Formats: sequence, structure tokens, C-alpha cells
Amino acid sequence: MAAITKTRPFFWRIKMLQVAIIGASGYTGAEAIEILLRHPQAKIAYLTALPEECGNVAEVFPRFKGRCPLDIEPLQMNKLIDKAKVVLCCLPHKISMEFVPNLLKAGLKVIDFSADYRIKDVKVYEKYYQPHSDKENLKHAVYGLCELYRDKIKDAKLIANPGCFPTGFMLGVAPLLKNNLIEKSVIVSAVTGASGAGKNQSKNFHFPNMNENFFAYSIGKHRHQPEMEQIAGEISGKNIEVLFQPHVGPFDVGIMSTIYCQPKENMTNEKLAQLYKDFYKNENFVQVLNTAPMLKDIAGTNYCHIYPAVCKDKIVVFSALDNLIKGASGQAIQNMNIMYGFDETSGLS
Ligand SMILES: NC(=O)c1ccc[n+]([C@@H]2O[C@H](COP(=O)([O-])OP(=O)(O)OC[C@H]3O[C@@H](n4cnc5c(N)ncnc54)[C@H](OP(=O)(O)O)[C@@H]3O)[C@@H](O)[C@H]2O)c1
Repeated sequence: MAAITKTRPFFWRIKMLQVAIIGASGYTGAEAIEILLRHPQAKIAYLTALPEECGNVAEVFPRFKGRCPLDIEPLQMNKLIDKAKVVLCCLPHKISMEFVPNLLKAGLKVIDFSADYRIKDVKVYEKYYQPHSDKENLKHAVYGLCELYRDKIKDAKLIANPGCFPTGFMLGVAPLLKNNLIEKSVIVSAVTGASGAGKNQSKNFHFPNMNENFFAYSIGKHRHQPEMEQIAGEISGKNIEVLFQPHVGPFDVGIMSTIYCQPKENMTNEKLAQLYKDFYKNENFVQVLNTAPMLKDIAGTNYCHIYPAVCKDKIVVFSALDNLIKGASGQAIQNMNIMYGFDETSGLS
């Protein structure tokens, strides 16, 4: 026995991080399972969903047949606390903040996918969502945009995983805001694939309407707008006004954002490209391109592709990511990797 132990590779002796997913039967839950199955330092410990969606993972998601022998079970809090150290909470807003306080009280770390812990100003949250029922934990939540908040993420117990549109927007505009290069009013027009609305979608998102179609929605009132303004304000140190217009197109995954900014002084394409390349030179998952990004290149990956360009007197930034991965589950695992000191790319490259 001693001889066997001696010859075992080092990673056999590393204790795997035990991860639970609440809301495992949804779109983001499935992507989180996919990533965790190939994660070298983390292991799925417990999967939960509403009782009617429970069963063997391969029955709920046939894509996992032969790859994941686990079951998705109705949530039992004692069992979860016993089995897991960290929880990916893939629930809709409002439902999330009903679960998160007990998870934190039990000493678990939580990465929450919903909007419940993203917006710091309760009045703003309540204007766009509903009354907030966990103001205490909201104060301590860390916004999990990995590239910009890495130092805070390291020690966080509760991560507010960013929204998918705000991730594409913020990564696209951060180099300009951090360097005080643009005026305070920014316009972003973005298009998402149909998975952006989760699996229980409204009738507009059903196949006969989505197929060969393209339309704007939430005109002038999308809930990600205040999140974008909050984070843009935080990283620039001043009030930034964001006019955000989302659209949906006939594809499964991906978000393409086109961001229009007014530069404070003359800008050239060469200076702009250098600024972005320098800003993201140490980042694994943000790639600065020399040409317009394409959704097919980022679908299924944790990458965000960005192309900044001077167009007439404006700076226009194009940003593309996969809403379910860099916009949700991939970014959540990237956050988890930072929190636990793993290589940031573990499970993601
Ligand atoms: N889709 C995206 O592109 C995206 C991107 C970024 C962030 N997000 C956020 O991530 C979260 C999950 O999104 P999603 O797209 O995965 O949604 P989804 O496909 O609708 O899945 C939601 C999950 O939550 C479960 N659930 C719903 N109500 C519940 C309740 N009362 N108690 C327990 N479980 C409940 C669902 O169970 P059932 O299967 O039984 O319904 C399902 O497992 C949301 O907060 C969303 O805003 C989504």
C-alpha cells in the first residue's frame, strides 16, 4: 500500500473542493455541471432543483449520458451543508435571496447568479425588481467581474455574479473609463441569443416567433441598465449615464454589444488598440482583436472578444461573449478559482 501511495501523482492527494449547485436543472446550471465535470480541483457534491425537475442528471440533460452518474435532488438544507463548501446559486432573482442567508449562516461560500446582490442601492434595486429581503448580506456582497474586482473576490464569502449584458459592456468600456478618456454618456446596443431568458421563456421567445426573427425588447427599461451604471460609476469615479437597448436574435447563445462613446480628445485606431492590448495584457479570458468579433468564435467558451475602433468622431467598441459561460457559469467558476487560489483557468480553458 505504501508503495502505491508513493507512486501516486501529486494531484491524487489534493482535497477536491466540494461544490453544490442550486437550480441545477436550468440553462446556467447545465453549463456549471459541464465545467465542473472537467475541473481538476473541484467536484460536484450536490445538485438540487424543484421536485418536478429532479432525477438522474443524464435524464434531465441527455448530453451528460455516460459522463455524470449523479442525481439532481430536491433541496435538503442539512444535506447541502454537510456535503458542500461552496454553492453556485443558479436561481431566479427574488428566489435567490430566500436561500442565500441560510447558506452563509451555515458557513458556506456562495456565488449567486441572480441580480439580488448586484445592486448596492436598495432603492434602485427595488425600483427595477421587488422589495429586497436580505439587505444585511447585500452590504458584504462582492461584484464578481473577475478582471476588475480580483482583489476583493479573493476574500469574498458572497459573490454577486455579474449579469451577462453588463459583463460584455463593462469589459468593453473599462479601459476607456479607467483612463478617463470618454464623456459621461454612453450608449450600448446589444443582441442576445434566446437562452438569455432561461428555460421558462415568454411567448415571444418560442421557436416560431424567434426563428428568422430579430427584435428589441425592454425598451428604455432593461434591468441591467442600473447595474451597468453602478459599475461604470465605480470604476471611473464619476456618474456615468448608460442608455442600454437589448435585442434578441435567432441563435442559442452569445451576446454582441456595440458601445458608442464620445472621446474627450482626439483618438486614433493605433492608440486605441494599444490602450486595450495593454489593459488586458495579463488577462486569460479577454482577447483584443484587430477586427470585429463574431459570436461563433466565443460560443461555448469563457472568452470575451473585444474590438475598439474610431468611427467618425466617436469610439465604438464591439464586445462578444457567451451569455451562459463568460456571462454566467464560466465567470462563476472563474470567481470560484480566484476565491480558492486555484489557477484562474481551471476547468475553463
Ligand atoms: N440565461 C442566461 O443567459 C443568464 C446569464 C447570466 C445570469 N443569469 C441568471 O442566472 C439565474 C439562472 O438563470 P437560468 O437561465 O439558468 O434560468 P432557468 O433556466 O430558468 O433555471 C432556473 C433554475 O432555478 C430553479 N428554480 C426556479 N424557481 C425556483 C424555486 N422557487 N425554488 C427552487 N428552484 C427554483 C429552476 O427549477 P425548475 O427547473 O424546476 O424550473 C431552474 O433549475 C437567473 O438569476 C438569471 O437571471 C442567466
